[in-house]
Amino acid sequence: MTWGVWGKNFSPSEMSESIIQNVDLGVTTFDHADIYGDYSTEAAFGEAFQKSKLNREKVQLISKCGIQLQNEHRGTYVKHYNYSKDYIISQAEQSLQNLKTAYLDVFLLHRPSPLMQLDEIKEAIIQLKNQGKIKSFGVSNFTPEQISYLRQDLTVEVNQIQCSLTHYQPFEDDSLFYHKRHGILTMAWSPLGGFHKVEEQSELRQEIYEQSEKYECSASQLVLAWLMHHPLEIHPVLGTSQPSRIKEAVESLNIDLSLQDWFQLYEASRGKEVD
Ligand SMILES: NC(=O)c1ccc[n+]([C@@H]2O[C@H](COP(=O)([O-])OP(=O)(O)OC[C@H]3O[C@@H](n4cnc5c(N)ncnc54)[C@H](OP(=O)(O)O)[C@@H]3O)[C@@H](O)[C@H]2O)c1
Repeated sequence: MTWGVWGKNFSPSEMSESIIQNVDLGVTTFDHADIYGDYSTEAAFGEAFQKSKLNREKVQLISKCGIQLQNEHRGTYVKHYNYSKDYIISQAEQSLQNLKTAYLDVFLLHRPSPLMQLDEIKEAIIQLKNQGKIKSFGVSNFTPEQISYLRQDLTVEVNQIQCSLTHYQPFEDDSLFYHKRHGILTMAWSPLGGFHKVEEQSELRQEIYEQSEKYECSASQLVLAWLMHHPLEIHPVLGTSQPSRIKEAVESLNIDLSLQDWFQLYEASRGKEVD
């Protein structure tokens, strides 16, 4: 999302270099959506991946469908969601073509729609799976009840949700327990939670800085360590475009926060102690 025209607008060589640097660091899964870069970033990545000469089997590709942006060329005059069977299949096939791959490792429904229908989704996903075009199916931004609706007829393997030190609702509602109980992998988007945009003088920023000193790490490493401290092994979806920050993020796996420090950060973010 951040490498294409919505973000750093990498040239094909820069994107290719970035892919190689990530893979060298062991970060081999790349998160896409059909809409990123106004429908342009998947194709940019596909070209860059080809340029990298990496083996497809070395990486995992995620994509998402369902959001239709307002777009003159596509004839959409209002942003909306579309989960009809034909649309899901055509977008998955478009992603394959753009990414220059025969299959997606993970295919997600981007956001729940009030109009989504299980039978349409089921037929599309089963067809895509049977044809080997997607290896696993999941959702993004779905509540437990919305996942339950799909689970009547489909296996849901992933839910990609907003989750971080500043967006801690999933730690307080049923989402993570539900994922655990049903074997659903939790991916966290915006894992840094924009902590660097929080006011310098705030209690949260002060606490992050104090603990960064204590754990001898950077602020972003601490924020990631907080998220990954959760026993569910939450997978952060990193948005950085800088290899040095990817390297830092990987190293944050070695930070072992104490129980009380975890709660101290939580309290600083909530603005009050737990009850
Ligand atoms: N499923 C969904 O609905 C959904 C929604 C949104 C996003 N996503 C996915 O999640 C990914 C990550 O989202 P995100 O980009 O919000 O995640 P993030 O990793 O929390 O934030 C990354 C952004 O923060 C900046 N940054 C990182 N460390 C910083 C620091 N120490 N100081 C200042 N700026 C810093 C990065 O800039 P630099 O590039 O300069 O490091 C980048 O712009 C996206 O790329 C997308 O794939 C999914």
